[in-house]
Parts: sequence; structure tokens; C-alpha cells
Amino acid sequence: MAEEKTIHVRVPGTSANCGPGFDTLGLACTIYNDLEIALRPDPVFEIEITGEGASGIPRNATNVVWTSAQYLLKQAGREKEFRGAWMRMHNRVPVSRGLGSSAAAIVAGLKAANVWIGNPFSRRDLLQFATAIEGHPDNVAPAIFGGFTVNIQADGGETECFSFLPKLRLKLVVAVPDFPLATKKAREVLPDLISRRDAVFNAGRVGMMIAALVEGRDRYLTHVFEDRLHQPYRESLIPGMPQVLEAAREAGAIGASLSGAGPCLIAFVLQERHRAREVGEAMLQAFRGAGVTSRYLLLDLDTKGAHVVKSEEKA
Ligand code: HSE
Repeated sequence: MAEEKTIHVRVPGTSANCGPGFDTLGLACTIYNDLEIALRPDPVFEIEITGEGASGIPRNATNVVWTSAQYLLKQAGREKEFRGAWMRMHNRVPVSRGLGSSAAAIVAGLKAANVWIGNPFSRRDLLQFATAIEGHPDNVAPAIFGGFTVNIQADGGETECFSFLPKLRLKLVVAVPDFPLATKKAREVLPDLISRRDAVFNAGRVGMMIAALVEGRDRYLTHVFEDRLHQPYRESLIPGMPQVLEAAREAGAIGASLSGAGPCLIAFVLQERHRAREVGEAMLQAFRGAGVTSRYLLLDLDTKGAHVVKSEEKA
């Protein structure tokens, strides 16, 4: 690789919804995709990909990292200057599992292109672009800002993100089944309307979750990861889901939920009290009982969001 200038960005995986916060809550976790990139004037692509899902990711102009970079260049009116790229990616976020692999790709492309042209856009701008590309903010927001995030779309279309670091030390245990689930399919099973009772059930839990995390009051977390808005409808797509969530709670998690649209399931463990490994083992065993092979990841909350690892220009 003889590029004169390269940018290296790192983007965290994310877990959306956190139970009741459908399309609204999301957190960043300590699993990362790395992208090194050099933009080129000519429409020539050289793309190396290693790690998760490497064989299924396009190595041409349809690659989501590139189309997202191009989206940002267009916003800056500079798309004609850069029509190709050299890219090297190393992915650790499992693909199509509910850990924000598509958000990580979008944010990596936006972030790297922004740095390349001298950072004309703020992180808030990147959030608007990423939400427009992804369709909902709950994965892209934590991928950009890090931490635990609450996200809303104002009537005018602007996305607002409140990102914070909880006062409690949460350990995240993510059970990753060996089958993918397309978000589109997991959204198709959802009803258009829900009852007022279910809306109240979720609204209270979202409010209490955020208050408890901001204030560091663990006793208020006992019921807050429950949901009636999307999880009950998605159970049919994930064999063993209720049993795995129950096994996590029985093994000491304070709560457990679907991660994003699934099929990963995420358990929340208060680090000082519970042994996260036991929760992980219990989740695997429950998946096994339903005939599903899985593995688990022990993660923490990422505190930084997407960031530049290295920006290098040869002398
Ligand atoms: N909030 C989205 C959903 C997340 O649950 O469909 C998808 O990653």
C-alpha cells in the first residue's frame, strides 16, 4: 500500500432497545471494528476485510463503509474529488446478530471521511447523517457518542441524543447464537398498534431505567429491562429466548433483554455483585436446551464512541 495519507478509525458495537426503549435507547460496548482508509481521486477500489463476516462483505463501490463516506462527501459538496478508496477493515462485531454491525460500518465511513476532509461536521451532524442512512438512531447514536444513550427524533426530523455514563458499573453479558437474523424480518413481525396498557408499561420502565442509571440507584433496576412493545412478538424468531432471559436472571443478572432486533440476548450484571461468567454459562446452557449453539461475550460499556486511532501523512 503506497498511499500518502491514511486515517484509522475505531467504532464500537452497540446494543439497541435495552428492553423497553424500542428505537430509542442504545449503548456502546467494548467490541470494536477498525477501519483504515485512504480516499482516492479515481474510481478504483482496493478493499481488504478480515474478521467477522469477512467473506460476505462487498469489496466494491457498494460497500456500506464507502457509500456512507460518499454520503458525507456529498453533504460537503466534495464527492467529485474522491471517487475511490483503499480500505482495510478488521471487524470484531458479529454480523446480523443485533450488535450494531451495520451502524458500525455507517459510522466508520462517515467518521473517516469527515476526518479526511478536515472535520467540517460535528458529531451531532454525523448523527443526523447516520440516522438518515440507517433509518433509526438507537445504534448509530451510541456508536458515535459512546456510553448509554437516549435518542429521539423531533417532528422536524432532527435527532437528539443524550449520552451519559451510568453511575453503576454494569457488566454486559451477550449470548450470540450461531444464526443471523435480518432486522427487516424482525421488524415485519411487529404490530402497527399497541394497547395503552402496554405503552404505559414501557414508558414507566424507560423513565425509571434512566433515572436509576443516572443516579446510581440499583434497587430501581429490578423490573426496568422488561418490554411489551417488541420482544413478545420476536420470540417466535429466536428459539429459547424466554428461557435464556430467565436463566440469565436466575444466575444473577439484574435484567436481560433482546439486543437490538436480535438474535443476541444481553444480560445486565452489576459488576460488584454478580459473577458475569456464571450468567454467560447459564445463557448458553438455556440456548443449548432449545437446540441452539451459541457463545457469549463479556463486555463493558464503551465510554468514547467512534474515534481516530491514527491519522498519518507520509513525509
Ligand atoms: N430498534 C431496532 C429494532 C434496532 O429493534 O428493530 C435494530 O438494530
